[in-house]
Amino acid sequence: MSSSDNSSEKVLEVKGITKSYKKRTVLNNINFDIYAGEIFGFLGPNGAGKTTLIRIICGMTTPTAGEVFICGNSVQKQFKKAVVNLGAMIENCQAYSYMSGYQNLVYFASLNGNVDHMQIDEIVDAVGMTARIHDKFRTYSYGMRQRIALAQALLNKPKLLVLDEPTNGLDATGVIELRKTLKIMAAKEKMAIMVSSHILTEMELLCDSFAIVDSGTVLELRSKKEQTSSIDKQIAISVNYPNYACKVVHEAFNLFPEIAGNSILIPFNKELYKNVVKELQSKNIAVFGGRVESKSLEDIYLDILKNNRK
Ligand SMILES: Nc1ncnc2c1ncn2[C@@H]1O[C@H](COP(=O)(O)OP(=O)(O)OP(=O)(O)O)[C@@H](O)[C@H]1O
Ligand SMILES: [Mg+2]
Repeated sequence: MSSSDNSSEKVLEVKGITKSYKKRTVLNNINFDIYAGEIFGFLGPNGAGKTTLIRIICGMTTPTAGEVFICGNSVQKQFKKAVVNLGAMIENCQAYSYMSGYQNLVYFASLNGNVDHMQIDEIVDAVGMTARIHDKFRTYSYGMRQRIALAQALLNKPKLLVLDEPTNGLDATGVIELRKTLKIMAAKEKMAIMVSSHILTEMELLCDSFAIVDSGTVLELRSKKEQTSSIDKQIAISVNYPNYACKVVHEAFNLFPEIAGNSILIPFNKELYKNVVKELQSKNIAVFGGRVESKSLEDIYLDILKNNRK
């Protein structure tokens, strides 16, 4: 990135957010920041607390403790000033069913005082709804409604865009288009984007940074540059009998290597690698070589959840 961009501008600050319903704590001291131009994934299984946090960021739910700042303004104390910079998409799309998609967008833009038809056309195109935009909202499919909800969130080019499970209901083309649109918004408009999801393969392609959350607690927080630490790497050892090799490695080192094609995967550790190769060869397994690989987000996520539940 060039030094003249505004990527050092902190757009969202989530500070010590806790939420309890009666005795159950559903969010436990959540802290993170998102900067201009960054796409941040908030990842966790069903019930982890993703929607609850997003509702708190939008001022729709009051936290039990903590505060959220959007461009330096507190959502809890300066609601109006804070949400001017916010565009959000949460759960079902709210729109007037008797109006067309276009009329809905014009209406929502007018609530903020500025209807720019050129900009609306641009957004409609970005969300892939040009062909059906003048049809009545009630005739739209679920995925089309999602697209209109995204268009609504993008009106007025907010500095912070918050999307709760935005790929729900989208077809394969929709998912690819969404990814493209969000990347353009982050890169060109310097929007800060927060996306919640449990679909890791999609998030890996989309996000610069992420938090992994389970039962309301952030287990792991990663910025882009930290993603290549050694725990995110593994060594793939290519062998002639991968199943037998797994058994040998398990018995000798108490590891549970996964199999990928003709390779077994072990943690990134050169000493361990040498010892494993020796052990395999001593059992007459042919070793064709080792290759350092980056772990997928899916592997990182499963490791973290597994360790947390031990
Ligand atoms: N109004 C409420 N009253 C009581 N408990 C609630 C309320 N809203 C949410 N919860 C609880 O908070 C927890 C987190 O819910 P939340 O909807 O934030 O999860 P999520 O991560 O969005 O899950 P999903 O992937 O299923 O959308 C759940 O245990 C849920 O039952
Ligand atoms: Mg949810």
